[in-house]
Amino acid sequence: MHAPPAQAADPRRRCLVTGGAGFIGSHLTDHLLALGHDVTVIDDLSTGRRENLADAMAGRSGPGRLRFIEATVSAALAALGPGERFDMVFHLAAAVGVKRVLERPIESVETNVHETSALLRFVASRPPASDGSRHAATLVASSSEVYGKGARTPFAEDDDCVLGPTTASRWSYACSKALDEYLALAYHRQHGVPVVVARLFNTVGPRQVGDYGMVLPAFVAAALAGRPLRVYGDGRQSRCFCDVRDVAPALPALLVCPAAHGLVVNVGSDDEITIEDLALRVIGVLGSASAVERVPYAHAYAPGFEDLRRRVPDLSRLRRTIGFRPRHDLDRTILDLAASLAPPGAPAPGRRVTA
Ligand SMILES: NC(=O)c1ccc[n+]([C@@H]2O[C@H](COP(=O)([O-])OP(=O)(O)OC[C@H]3O[C@@H](n4cnc5c(N)ncnc54)[C@H](O)[C@@H]3O)[C@@H](O)[C@H]2O)c1
Repeated sequence: MHAPPAQAADPRRRCLVTGGAGFIGSHLTDHLLALGHDVTVIDDLSTGRRENLADAMAGRSGPGRLRFIEATVSAALAALGPGERFDMVFHLAAAVGVKRVLERPIESVETNVHETSALLRFVASRPPASDGSRHAATLVASSSEVYGKGARTPFAEDDDCVLGPTTASRWSYACSKALDEYLALAYHRQHGVPVVVARLFNTVGPRQVGDYGMVLPAFVAAALAGRPLRVYGDGRQSRCFCDVRDVAPALPALLVCPAAHGLVVNVGSDDEITIEDLALRVIGVLGSASAVERVPYAHAYAPGFEDLRRRVPDLSRLRRTIGFRPRHDLDRTILDLAASLAPPGAPAPGRRVTA
């Protein structure tokens, strides 16, 4: 992997990344190390994988130093020394994915709420830094799921969040992430913690796995294996997919932007594609012989499952604060994701795409 050189203008910072062995967290960790920052990762490996940090652990990601703590966020923070302090904190640890949330509803709600609360208490209780800054700049990863059933397109950060009934577990993920947002913003108002809430839309790319209900890696894995690509419902529901290698650098860029502090910011792409077209695109890009199979929602999840037809972010705030412009196109992402899912030594999948 090619690490960008450390930027002279960017002093070495002490960073904490919770969920840093996960899909997005590991790309963020690589990016921070490449910038020359020191990174502490806390991850309990519930859905994360040690292999995601292979480059970081081998010192290939960049000049920064990595410390890996395998534990839950609250346990790890409780064990850190009283003087231990970070300059930038990225809270990505969460119970993730609709499938996992439906299968393990208690764990999802408890993880997402308790661990965020523990993290924010930790940040607010640390002593001031030597440069006079009172609290670590702290980014809390939220999700486009908090918009719930909102019907507006595109979704802007101050739009209403419209969640379904508490009897449908599906909404507990959205609700737990909304509580995380309330907590983060409350720490900003009450204790002056420089907080950014990053409301992430569908993020995709290498290292993502389909085990927890993520659509693109599931399609790519099926296409590589010659199995049918299972499209839920009529396939006309649409999403916007952004490459993780565009999302990861946007997170520290937001944290060092004072204009973003105290704000919720949508992060993602606004390029919309239907799920059926996504399946056909995967098949085309990878030159797969797989077919598309339609699966009713009731079979895929549970009877009465509610999905959203469209989920498009309004990115004006993201563009205004950090001038965000994604650089990876979907075909490139599909190819690189396929390469990361293929067994070691397998020939490079798919037709040729120039970068
Ligand atoms: N991938 C997406 O499209 C997407 C979309 C919206 C929001 N998000 C948010 O981004 C963040 C990262 O998601 P991801 O896609 O990388 O998922 P992921 O499952 O790969 O990452 C989550 C990480 O958190 C770790 N973790 C879970 N509970 C923990 C705990 N109690 N203590 C310590 N570590 C714990 C897991 O082991 C994993 O490594 C999450 O907060 C998620 O809600 C992701």
